[in-house]
Amino acid sequence: MKAPRELWTSRVAFILAAAGSAVGLGNIWRFSYVVGTNGGAAFIIVYLIIIAVIGYPMMVTEIALGRKTHKNAIGAFKALAPNTPWWLVGALGVLAGFVILSFYSVVAGWSVSYIFKTIGGSLGADADFAGVFVGHITSAWAPVIWHAVFMAITLGIIAAGVVGGIGRAVRILMPALFVLLIILVLRSLTLPGAGAGVAFILQPDFSELTAQSILGAVGQAFFTLSLGMGCMITYGSYLNDKDDVPDNGAWVVALDTGVALLAGFAIFPAVFALGFDPAAGAGLAFITLPAVFASMPGGVLFGVLFFVLLSIAALTSAISLLEVVVAWLVDEYDWSRKKASLIIGVLIFLVGVPASLSNGAISFNIAGMPFFDFLDFLQESILLPLGGLLTAVFAGHVWTAKKTREYANTERGKIVLGGWYDVLIKYIVPIAIAVVMIFGLIDKFS
Ligand code: TRP
Repeated sequence: MKAPRELWTSRVAFILAAAGSAVGLGNIWRFSYVVGTNGGAAFIIVYLIIIAVIGYPMMVTEIALGRKTHKNAIGAFKALAPNTPWWLVGALGVLAGFVILSFYSVVAGWSVSYIFKTIGGSLGADADFAGVFVGHITSAWAPVIWHAVFMAITLGIIAAGVVGGIGRAVRILMPALFVLLIILVLRSLTLPGAGAGVAFILQPDFSELTAQSILGAVGQAFFTLSLGMGCMITYGSYLNDKDDVPDNGAWVVALDTGVALLAGFAIFPAVFALGFDPAAGAGLAFITLPAVFASMPGGVLFGVLFFVLLSIAALTSAISLLEVVVAWLVDEYDWSRKKASLIIGVLIFLVGVPASLSNGAISFNIAGMPFFDFLDFLQESILLPLGGLLTAVFAGHVWTAKKTREYANTERGKIVLGGWYDVLIKYIVPIAIAVVMIFGLIDKFS
């Protein structure tokens, strides 16, 4: 006899888990460098509009598909459109979960190792910060070992189940994350000269905006909200039928956006106060910030808190990525949760090894880029937009927007999806994604 499928123990458990999935490296590491390189406040405004117009409708759609079917990413499409190829959308999602986690865990491993580098003193005031970072990510062993440690923790949590693993972990980790973030914001805002950083994120200069940055905002919105790959379908599938979709979805989007903005307030005031460049790019969190911490009072403590925060955020996202793949094997092939977590966790670890090594230890290129960059390109430019586009078309035109929305609304909810939802999910969302995807690919290969 198969054990009955688990359900979240409460609505708060779902919100914490889904917000845990959404809040990740994307909110802190990626958001800060994308904002930094795109001119700050003006970009943030565009980003907020995209979150509302594209992110929120996609969020409620995915949660509704999950709650309706109580199935994994692939099973949900099979249940709603039996004997059609729509299940392939779910398959794209499962593949994306695999691909994303294999390099996400490598970056998470960098973050964990930076906790110890900060404590160990290798990031003191006279350190060569860029040299330490490049040295770390291009070395053969250290990043692979931290990637292994991180994957082991991730698979351990997933093996322990939806309630006993994910639910329990997020109940501890998410409050910890909020506390750490608030401490860092207070430290950053009270540094002399912090005002310039605050202005950078609050005073828009629209001349800084380019078409490119608008495309970047859409990509960032998908990634940060964990959309386009069945992650929210999977988490939504553990909701009780009576639980509301529009309100819960709004909580998740609001928490994710709030954390991203707070991360901005933790990072930019300090960067400006200590005279660093906000447009440092992908190295912002690992090169600029350690330098910032090294030159501020109490820097070791705040540096450690920052990398603990980043690692926790990464962990609650990593478990959601693994869960997409594991839920599929458990639902569709009756694998035990332990077996699925172990086998898939190890396979993802193994794919992550060449990804990590391709950063410099060995030369391993695919499509003209290091394997690591290729995996990131694959998810960002192809898997997530394609998955999101097809999910929107499915919900809007196949299952139909009206049915999706009527199903999602419950009497308990404060937010009611109305005709505006239909317009967004049928036309605006798919067209916006298609445009972004096409321009993104043209840009990449021209
Ligand atoms: N949202 C997470 C972040 O911001 C990453 C993530 C978790 C994700 N699950 C996902 C991204 C599903 C895309 C799809 O770091």
